[in-house]
Amino acid sequence: MRDIAHEIGRERIAAVVATFYASVREHPTLSVPFQRVHDWPEHLAVLTHFWWVSLGGERYLDYSYQVPAKHAEAGFTPDLLQDWLMLFQTTLTQHLPPDQAIPWIERARKIGTSLKMLHELGHMHGPKPIGH
Ligand code: HEM
Repeated sequence: MRDIAHEIGRERIAAVVATFYASVREHPTLSVPFQRVHDWPEHLAVLTHFWWVSLGGERYLDYSYQVPAKHAEAGFTPDLLQDWLMLFQTTLTQHLPPDQAIPWIERARKIGTSLKMLHELGHMHGPKPIGH
C-alpha cells in the first residue's frame, strides 16, 4: 500500500491540520461545537497524530482515541459533517498537490461515512427503547 503519511511528512501534516482548525474556529457552523476545545495545542497534537497514523505512519503518541463518544458529546450531525468535509477538501487542495490531497480527502470521507452511520444507528447516544 502507498505510504501517504511519509510522502506528505509529519511536518506538513501538522501544518495542514493547524491551518484547517484555524479555519474551523472562524467557520459560522463548525466553530460552535469546537468551542468545547480548551487546549488547542493538545487538540492539534492529537489530530496530527491521528492523521499521521490514519495515513499509514507508525504511532508515536500514547493516546486512546474515543472518536464516536467525543463526536456524540460534541453534537455531531450529518449537516455539520458536510460543512466539515467541504472545508477539509478546500484546505487540502489549497495546501497539497492533488496526488497527496486526493487520497487524504478520500480517507476523511470514509471516516465521515462511518461517523454518520454510527450517528444514524443511534450508537452515539447509547441504547434507548424505540418510540420513547
Ligand atoms: C470525517 C470527519 C471527521 C474526522 C475524521 C474527525 C476526527 C476527529 C478526531 C480523531 C478527534 C479526536 C477524538 C479523541 O480525542 O478521541 C476529533 C475531535 C473532535 N471533533 Fe471531529 N472529526 C470529524 C468531524 C467532525 C464534525 C462534523 C464535528 C462537528 C461536531 C467534529 C467535532 C469535533 C470536536 C468538537 C472534537 C473535540 C472533542 C473533545 O475533545 O471534546 N468533528 N475529531
